[in-house]
Amino acid sequence: MGLTAKEYDPKDLPGEFIKTYGGKIEDVRVYASPARINIIGEHIDYNGGKVFPASIDRYLYVAIRKRADSKIIYNDVRFPGTYEFDVNDNFAFDKKNDYANYLNGILSQIKAQGYKLDSGFEILMVSNVPAGGGISSSSALECGFAWAVSETFGFNIDRVEIAKLGQMSEHNFMGVNCGIMDQFIIATGKKNTAEMLDCATLEYEYAPLELGDYRFVVMNTNKVRKLSDSKYNERRSQCEAALKILQDKGLSIKALCELTPSKWEEVKTFVSDEILLKRAKHCVYENQRVLDAVTALRAGDLKKLGSLLNESHKSLKEDYEVTGIELDTLAETSQKQEGCLGARMTGAGFGGCAIALVHKDKVKQFIDNVQKEYTAKIGYAAGFFQCETGDGVTRII
Ligand code: GLA
Repeated sequence: MGLTAKEYDPKDLPGEFIKTYGGKIEDVRVYASPARINIIGEHIDYNGGKVFPASIDRYLYVAIRKRADSKIIYNDVRFPGTYEFDVNDNFAFDKKNDYANYLNGILSQIKAQGYKLDSGFEILMVSNVPAGGGISSSSALECGFAWAVSETFGFNIDRVEIAKLGQMSEHNFMGVNCGIMDQFIIATGKKNTAEMLDCATLEYEYAPLELGDYRFVVMNTNKVRKLSDSKYNERRSQCEAALKILQDKGLSIKALCELTPSKWEEVKTFVSDEILLKRAKHCVYENQRVLDAVTALRAGDLKKLGSLLNESHKSLKEDYEVTGIELDTLAETSQKQEGCLGARMTGAGFGGCAIALVHKDKVKQFIDNVQKEYTAKIGYAAGFFQCETGDGVTRII
């Protein structure tokens, strides 16, 4: 194999598959599942908020073929070792199964929904999405795999249901109480657009991502973290606690993001705990920023969009407290650069990635400067790439 994931061309995957498993190349299907950035609307998908993510042109590829027996075999070009299971297994989380847990989690949810695998299957994967890096490598894996299995076995599960399967697998199998944003955009994303998703109703709308001379640059802190190890679930509980206080005081709301900023200012004194107050404030104002960002983008006002990105980062740093020195260094250094309209962390935070909106002629200089300052302060290098939008999960071969 000897290739790094970044150099990998998915056209090579069927050949690699045959080297691994034998048989005929015509029987191999290949699916591409994108990574995502969240432009704005962070940590509010699980608070009934609106979010504005985009699927991007970095993909995880899943090659799949049914088997004649009941064996399930997983291989990944990037990792040594093979995982073997059986369609009749009772899939349960097991730390030693590493990435296979994400796949078994999906199978457990598929089975729980009553779908029957009438044979085993084998897969070979490869990915150009940095693992654990904040652009949702895990959701790309969950949705790519779920879509591949669904199509290969003729279940034809629709895209929204695929997203829900991914989220349920995180909740019930992986132990992360994530929202629906990542799986949703990966299942339903469309090239050249970002998606405005209302997480309270799951209604969604595509907005053309017209950035003129500007591009999104993704910046990876290279600080590896796992959502389950982070304070993600704690943040979610804090929001629930703040919501409960407001409900107990008689507010008839089902989620924090139902509050407008002005309503929030009226009722915030009900929340006396400093921490809960900050968490709820972030949610209410972040939701408003999403609405403002979509309006700005539609009006072609990229400067306004940039300043909303900066405000979002500040709120995630000071009120939601999910950034840390690595993300703050990336975002704040970016914000000072010539040609950069705005920057913020993207995804869960606590490490992972940030995004910056940068003039296309300044991207190189931007990366050089931010890298220099980041390395000097943090002690190791960050990763950078300019991204374009990409389609949601789809069969490519
Ligand atoms: C992770 C979760 C999402 C969302 C973001 C924060 O990516 O999977 O559901 O909550 O964090 O916005």
